[in-house]
Amino acid sequence: MAKIVLVAAVARNGAIGVKGGLPWRLPSDLKHLRETTWGRPMVMGRKTFDSIGKPLPGRETIVVTRDATFAREGVHVVRSIDDALALGHERAKAMGVDEIMVVGGGELYRATLDIADRIVLSEVDLAPDGDAFFPELDMRRWREVSRTGPLRGEKDEASFIVRVLERA
Ligand SMILES: NC(=O)c1ccc[n+]([C@@H]2O[C@H](COP(=O)([O-])OP(=O)(O)OC[C@H]3O[C@@H](n4cnc5c(N)ncnc54)[C@H](OP(=O)(O)O)[C@@H]3O)[C@@H](O)[C@H]2O)c1
Repeated sequence: MAKIVLVAAVARNGAIGVKGGLPWRLPSDLKHLRETTWGRPMVMGRKTFDSIGKPLPGRETIVVTRDATFAREGVHVVRSIDDALALGHERAKAMGVDEIMVVGGGELYRATLDIADRIVLSEVDLAPDGDAFFPELDMRRWREVSRTGPLRGEKDEASFIVRVLERA
């Protein structure tokens, strides 16, 4: 079975989003997201899909929504988390990879944290206003397997550390 991997960029105050978008400008983290998810199925909430507005190249996008009328070209649409994961497993197998990437937002992270095998966390050194948050992590249940950074590209608004956590 493919592993369930959460990929998120999280501020010091837990914020991940504001007004339907990201609360920062961090092109290096977007590049990291692209590399981490490349060639893999990605599961996202409908609000996160709306904020991106199109399927991202080089990956398969699975959008979760309760809206039976929702359809967009180039993406899979499912009506529940269970259906998203079932399709994720199927697509991971077809793509020859062993990971299903859950890429947000807050609602999707909350719904999948308990079944996640790994979390790839970009910890952003900012505390911005937010209206979407990453769920609190119980660090007795997770162990850090790698840590990279601090990283900060020329065009990044702040530095960030990439931590990979696996279930303890
Ligand atoms: N920093 C990061 O790494 C990161 C990553 C991703 C997103 N974000 C930010 O996070 C914010 C969006 O997060 P969010 O929590 O507001 O929304 P979200 O998780 O992206 O999407 C929520 C929507 O997903 C659907 N959904 C959720 N649970 C479902 C379930 N169990 N069954 C069926 N459908 C379900 C519903 O869609 P319908 O309403 O259509 O039914 C719901 O309104 C944005 O600001 C975005 O920019 C940040």
